[in-house]
Amino acid sequence: MGTDWVWLISLRDLDADARAIQFGAVAEMSLLPGQERFVGDPLRMALAGLADESRRPYVVEAGGEAVGLLTLQTGAAGLAGWPDDQSAWLLRGFLIDGRHQGKGLGTLAAAAAVEAARKLTARCQGSETGVVLSVNDENTAGMAAYRRAGFIDAGPYLGGSAGPQRTMFQSFAAPGAA
Ligand SMILES: CC(C)(COP(=O)(O)OP(=O)(O)OC[C@H]1O[C@@H](n2cnc3c(N)ncnc32)[C@H](O)[C@@H]1OP(=O)(O)O)[C@@H](O)C(=O)NCCC(=O)NCCS
Repeated sequence: MGTDWVWLISLRDLDADARAIQFGAVAEMSLLPGQERFVGDPLRMALAGLADESRRPYVVEAGGEAVGLLTLQTGAAGLAGWPDDQSAWLLRGFLIDGRHQGKGLGTLAAAAAVEAARKLTARCQGSETGVVLSVNDENTAGMAAYRRAGFIDAGPYLGGSAGPQRTMFQSFAAPGAA
C-alpha cells in the first residue's frame, strides 16, 4: 500500500450516511487464522462502541481505505489491569484487517490512538495521563506493534478470561513512537 500515515475516523462524529459507509467497510474486515482469540468481531465491536457513551470507536484509514478499527474508552482502565479506572484511557478492540497487516499500519494506528486520546483529554479537561491496554502474552504481533508505537510494559495482568496478559501503558508525556 505504501503509506506512512493513518487517519482515525471517529464513528461518533459522523452523520448517519457517512457512518453507514464506514460500517460497510468494517463489515468487510477480517483477521488472519488464529487471531480471533485476541479480539472480537469488528462489526459487533463498532456497534457496541457507539452504544456505550464511554467509548469512542474509530476506523483506521490508510491510503483512502478502511484498514482497521480501534476504540478508546474513558473510566475503564481497570479492565486492562490498571490500578484505577480514571487516570488512563483504555485502548481496546484494536485490529488491522488481515489483508493489510505487516506493513507498519498497526504501529501507526496505535501511535495515532495515543494522539487522539491526548487531544480528547485536553478538549474535555479530563484526568487521563495516558493510554493503557492489555495484550495476550502469546500475541507477539500485538506486543511488537504497541512497543514500536511507544507503549511500555507495565507488568502482568491475570484478570479477564483470555489467559495471561501484559498491561502496557503510554504516558502523554512520553516521547512516543520510536
Ligand atoms: C496486532 C496488529 C494490530 C498489528 O498490526 P500490523 O499492521 O500487522 O502491525 P505492524 O505491521 O505495525 O507490525 C508491528 C510488529 O508486529 C510484527 N508482526 C506483524 N505481523 C506479525 C505476525 N503475524 N507474527 C509475528 N509478528 C508480526 C511486525 O514484524 C512488527 O514487529 P517488528 O517491529 O519487530 O518487526 C494485527 O496483527 C492484528 O490486527 N492482529 C489481530 C488482532 C489483535 O491481536 N489485536 C490486538 C489485541 S490487544
